[in-house]
Amino acid sequence: MQDASSIVVLTGAGVSAESGVPTFRDVQEGLWARYDPAELATPEAYSRDPELVARWYDWRRTLCSKASPNPAHLALSWLERFSRENGHRFNLVTQNVDRLHHAAGSTGILELHGTLWIWRCLRCAEEREERVVPFTEYPPRCSCGGLRRPGVVWFGEALPEGILEATNQAASECDLFLSVGTSAVVYPAAGLAHSARRRGARIAEINAQPTPLSPLTHWSLQGNCGEILPELLHQAFGYAPA
Ligand code: OAD
Repeated sequence: MQDASSIVVLTGAGVSAESGVPTFRDVQEGLWARYDPAELATPEAYSRDPELVARWYDWRRTLCSKASPNPAHLALSWLERFSRENGHRFNLVTQNVDRLHHAAGSTGILELHGTLWIWRCLRCAEEREERVVPFTEYPPRCSCGGLRRPGVVWFGEALPEGILEATNQAASECDLFLSVGTSAVVYPAAGLAHSARRRGARIAEINAQPTPLSPLTHWSLQGNCGEILPELLHQAFGYAPA
């Protein structure tokens, strides 16, 4: 980390786990325990049962509205400032839709999978930020009468083009790629570490359990990122959380 002059960090749901936001591939709780998130996060699921899908996203939205950034989010926000102050490049790419990185003070975040705070009308395409929870109707309706959907990327949909382009560019230019709290199974996000590696970057992973990426990394640190990340920054740069 001390030698790196261009860092890319890719985060996944594990980064928000310590904030109380459920990951995708851990078992769900309560009402939603019998649903597979991968089956709710598709355009087909929304067409089939818009009320169910809207309720599930509203449940996540409500949960996230009560969540605060944890030490992993805060450490990454500090690393961004520290890197820039030292004339280094830093890019944070996230698959998370909760905006907890924003809440921690990170800037210029590349949101690969959109956000659940913005909902889009399927008829007039108007996008609106929705901060008040919960909704009063499912799915919520636009003033034009159209149904609205969450501004997230569903399975089978294309990623936002400009963001994907900027991400690929950053990954191909970095000398350190850090994969944090992601199962590294969903593409194209999971492919970023591979392309960074082909271009000669060092690859490090911090995750609660091994992933398909682990054998390809230079360093694979297993455990909670809310503990490992601050410690790593402390050892490398003397970081002391506020
Ligand atoms: P996953 O739920 O697939 O993976 C989260 C990973 O974080 C798992 O490997 C956990 O072991 C790990 N983990 C859990 N708690 C952790 C902690 N405290 N510290 C470190 N690691 C921890 O979530 P993603 O990889 O983000 O896409 O999933 C990728 C995409 O698949 C999501 O963005 C979403 C999903 O379906 C779409 O909806 C398009």
